[in-house]
Amino acid sequence: MPLDLLQEARRQAEICNACRYCEGYCSVFPALHQKRVFTDGDITQLANLCHNCRGCYYACQYTAPHEFDLNLPKALAEVRRDSWERFAWPAPAARAFHTHGTMIAAASVLGFALLFLAIRAIGSAGGEGFYAALSHNAMVAIFAPAFLFPLASLAVGLRRYWRSVGGARIRWAHLVGAFGMVAKMKDLAAGHGDGCNFEEEDRFSHARRYAHQLVMYGFLLCFAATSAGTVMHYGFGLHAPYGLFSLPKLLGVPGGVMLAAGTGWIAWLKLSADREVGDATAWGGEMGFVLLLGFVAVSGLALYALGGTGAMPLMLALHLGAVLSFFLLTPYTKMAHGFYRLAALVRDAQRKQETAPGTGNEATA
Ligand code: HEM
Ligand code: SF4
Ligand code: SF4
Repeated sequence: MPLDLLQEARRQAEICNACRYCEGYCSVFPALHQKRVFTDGDITQLANLCHNCRGCYYACQYTAPHEFDLNLPKALAEVRRDSWERFAWPAPAARAFHTHGTMIAAASVLGFALLFLAIRAIGSAGGEGFYAALSHNAMVAIFAPAFLFPLASLAVGLRRYWRSVGGARIRWAHLVGAFGMVAKMKDLAAGHGDGCNFEEEDRFSHARRYAHQLVMYGFLLCFAATSAGTVMHYGFGLHAPYGLFSLPKLLGVPGGVMLAAGTGWIAWLKLSADREVGDATAWGGEMGFVLLLGFVAVSGLALYALGGTGAMPLMLALHLGAVLSFFLLTPYTKMAHGFYRLAALVRDAQRKQETAPGTGNEATA
């Protein structure tokens, strides 16, 4: 248990609790002001609520060289990354990715691509279109477990998280509240609505929020395209590749373009932002995840463009290698943030309900 990280975040949270200047900035401060004493679970919950918008850092009068040396976004980012490592199952996999993410992602994509090419060479192919390069049965045999294992692993992690933050029974209203926050990614706009300070010090901008929305909605469109393809294959006997005016293409092509553009934008923002106002040790792993996600999109679009050429088997192997790596690594990469952050927002919706005026729990000791 990294007491030093938790203790440092606790020290800073206590100062913020006395100061209260950043009251309206994000979901973290109202949650923080509910407490006088912070348990490890409280700090973990605050860390997963923080969107690293950096507004509080640039507004703070107690940052270095002040003796308080406040850097709340960094302290919370470190606790957050550490919590994902501790809750992950198996934990060493998450630790490895956070430190050597780009290398692991590249090795995994190339390794799986070679495996797909080898499967093709030993004669698994059998069918039309993409299935002439890799049979449908081989694809299902590989992808079904690769999809189910990360889900099981994430379920273990989320259960550990929920216990640690003292989560209660989830009700419909909590989910509605949490998904409402996710849909607009409100905490990346900061409480004043001018955006965050992710790019250049105290310049306000919505760039990170918009880039995130491009990535998130692009990813969801791609996921919907794959699901539509699965239903068409099994439900209606319609096999890939599909025409331009089919559901998989109508969802997948804009989704892929959004995902590619959004990940490129996020990577650029990450290069220009100050690493010391976040978890500098996890920067490489985070960049590895962003690049992997971007490669999933770009290789998918390239496969579409080159589908009728001799480059198709190679592109298919690379795209499937990227998708397989993305799914298998999900519980250990930054991708896990989507699940933990959603859980934190659900827990926050519960807190709001528990401490609503008239419940007698307005502020606890
Ligand atoms: C439950 C919904 C989600 C929430 C609340 C959420 C929230 C956030 C927040 C607050 C950040 C920036 C702060 C940080 O660095 O941790 C972030 C970064 C990011 N998110 Fe999400 N996210 C969600 C879902 C997704 C989905 C579905 C995707 C797409 C696969 C995605 C892709 C990314 C990427 C690529 C980054 C940038 C990582 C980086 O800068 O290192 N997010 N997300
Ligand atoms: S970050 Fe600084 S200014 Fe904001 S509440 Fe904390 S101590 Fe006060
Ligand atoms: S960095 Fe942004 S989201 Fe995190 S505590 Fe500060 S103001 Fe809130």
